[in-house]
Amino acid sequence: MKRIAIIAAAGKGTRAGADKIWMDMGGKLMIERTLSAFLSCPEVDQVILVVAKERLKDAEALLSCARKPCLAVVGGDTRTQSVRLALLRAKQEAGEQAALVAVHDGARPYVTPALIKACFDTAEKTGSAVPVTPSVDSLRRKTETGSQAISREEVLCVQTPQCFTLSSLLGAFSHEEEASDEATLYEKYVAPVTLVEGDPKNRKITYLSDIYEQSEPRVGVGFDVHELRVGRPLVLGGVIIKHDKGVYGHSDADVPVHAIMDALLTAANLPDIGHLFPPDDPRYEGADSIKLLQQVAEKVKEVGWRPVNVSAEIMAEKPKLAPYLSQMERNVAQAIGISENRVKFAATTTETLGIVGEEKGIAAHAVALLAPRKD
Ligand code: CTP
Ligand code: MG
Repeated sequence: MKRIAIIAAAGKGTRAGADKIWMDMGGKLMIERTLSAFLSCPEVDQVILVVAKERLKDAEALLSCARKPCLAVVGGDTRTQSVRLALLRAKQEAGEQAALVAVHDGARPYVTPALIKACFDTAEKTGSAVPVTPSVDSLRRKTETGSQAISREEVLCVQTPQCFTLSSLLGAFSHEEEASDEATLYEKYVAPVTLVEGDPKNRKITYLSDIYEQSEPRVGVGFDVHELRVGRPLVLGGVIIKHDKGVYGHSDADVPVHAIMDALLTAANLPDIGHLFPPDDPRYEGADSIKLLQQVAEKVKEVGWRPVNVSAEIMAEKPKLAPYLSQMERNVAQAIGISENRVKFAATTTETLGIVGEEKGIAAHAVALLAPRKD
């Protein structure tokens, strides 16, 4: 029998607050991960990927290099509607041929070819296959007056892929009824389902934190140099330092803070400070760089990262910076929301050599380490 896989990936990701299916998970998009399990499973003859209308082009691009027949279709407002549309397409694809269909959540990227094969093989014998795992949590049922414990032994957690003969699942879906999975409609209109042993790793990605925890740490570097001029304040690491010259620039020209911002931004794969705060934008004239650093920290957080530590070195011939370094560390730590012992500043001269040594400018470089957000 022809074996067709339907991957339902047209959801809105409301609980994640993001288009989770198309987000990066440790270097690959979630949907790429899910798809690759089906593409590398020899038992799958064809894949139908169901996506939101605005993702149709992306889906087609993703499928264009697949080495088995694949197609993308636009889904509906609910999961049931998305699957129904895909089943109708599967019917067209199968024609008169008998077929088995496996319906899988695009949001379950840890599915393995072994589980897909096991489900198809069971459905070939019995007409259906639904992977389940025991509950690892204790469970309670809501009651009118509160709640009551139920035995964990009495329940099972239901996963996908759920496999059926195409004709019988089409029959179950011909009823205009909503359900959270295929098994619910199949057992109501066709027959009891056959259970197969699911995989505890095959969990569904529901919240943004489920994605973040898969990412690996990332490191970024930043560098900056500003000219020293008479009549300008010397602001370094948010500290105003008494000196006969100051740093010249559009903002307050806080050299180490600029280097730190670029370290954070590049680690998070974001454009650098020149793009974020253009030097010709009047809004940033005389800007307090510590405030800009706060904005950078917010942006880094928005894309799923938290700073682990920051290390910066200032290169200045004069004045002696050692007395100010701990205050700079405090300022930076506060701006990016980490503890002071995770920010360290060092200072060096360049032994009278070059632009720093000749007191024409002050330079700084910085390194930042980011880890996936936990919240
Ligand atoms: N799905 C779909 N079409 C819909 C709704 C959901 O294809 N109209 C898919 C989702 O893309 C997902 C699976 O069905 O792969 C259901 O998992 P779920 O966590 O509910 O995903 P979303 O519906 O996107 O998330 P939420 O319910 O939080 O909005
Ligand atoms: Mg949903």
